[in-house]
Amino acid sequence: CGKKEEPAAPAAPAPAAAAPAGDKLKVSFMYVSPIGDGGWTFQHELARKAIAQKFGDKIETSMVESVPESADAERVLRDMAGQGNKLVFATSFGYQEFVQKAAADLPGVKFEHATGYKQADNVAVYDSKTFEGAYLAGIVAGSMTKTKTVGVVASVPIPEVVRNINSFVLGAQSVDPSIQAKVVWVNEWFAPPKESEAATSLINGGVDVMYQNTNSPAVLKTAEERGVYAFGKDGDMSAFAPKAHLGSAVIDWTPYYSKVVEDTLAGKWQSGNFWWGVKEGAMDLVKIADQVPQEAKDKVEKAKQGLKDGSFAVWTGPIVDNKGQEVLASGVVGDDAFLRGINFYVKGIEGAVPG
Ligand code: GUN
Repeated sequence: CGKKEEPAAPAAPAPAAAAPAGDKLKVSFMYVSPIGDGGWTFQHELARKAIAQKFGDKIETSMVESVPESADAERVLRDMAGQGNKLVFATSFGYQEFVQKAAADLPGVKFEHATGYKQADNVAVYDSKTFEGAYLAGIVAGSMTKTKTVGVVASVPIPEVVRNINSFVLGAQSVDPSIQAKVVWVNEWFAPPKESEAATSLINGGVDVMYQNTNSPAVLKTAEERGVYAFGKDGDMSAFAPKAHLGSAVIDWTPYYSKVVEDTLAGKWQSGNFWWGVKEGAMDLVKIADQVPQEAKDKVEKAKQGLKDGSFAVWTGPIVDNKGQEVLASGVVGDDAFLRGINFYVKGIEGAVPG
């Protein structure tokens, strides 16, 4: 056909030519639940893959899933260091003491711990503002509940979870202040049968819209079976419950993981405390269902804009706890110290925070 032969494309450089294996930054991730959980861990895994793609042969990543929050965690962390990893992400709150112990013995390794609060020279802590996603979901819940009773399947009784429960309820009450809420604790991050049981007991108690702080889609699946509503959390769970799903409060860990890898490659890694949310592109409420009224969708959009430009904060007074005590006076915005110390339920939530 007269077409000239293309010159042979230059051979792709062999990986060793581009960066000898020894020069790559080895990065490892420790997960508390399986990567197939569809939520918390799935989302960390998506971000691991994203940075592997982004940084190409500059880094080599690996992960270990389903590591309990026990001495097993410390062993896994030490193994990761022994295998040459210089940057290690430990992605659950209960790893805190094990990260501290391993890090103290391994000064040449940088540790990143979600969602703890203990830092060290070689330990940074980070989290996403999951409470912002909970609030946005709450707005949708408030517009959809007919029984005026929403519910939360809660995981482990630590401040971030209590904060998320409250934030969901505050979102619902921003639509209708009379809305009540019930909470059932399962005391684990990932326990699908227990999550389902808890959801069932909420539904039997009159709840018709649920949220959860556990890792799996079990609550959503139970909602689908029982003809009520629920949300995806951490990951996009819309596919698990086409009728019940009202939206998914997703975390994108990629911006933060990119920053940390970039800093580490540049020799600029520093310990610190990072808490990114809607503003930083780390949190969003996605796939809001068609059946949600436009008014609620507009309210979600407005809240998102406010979070982005700083004109709105979820924890703005007046806020009263469920014993009638004012915890934030009118117009006062809770600062990070306040947010990290929330150990009460807001007005309208039944019961007390587990002691
Ligand atoms: N799932 C497993 N671990 C955690 C954690 O530390 N925080 C949150 N929000 N979810 C989790």
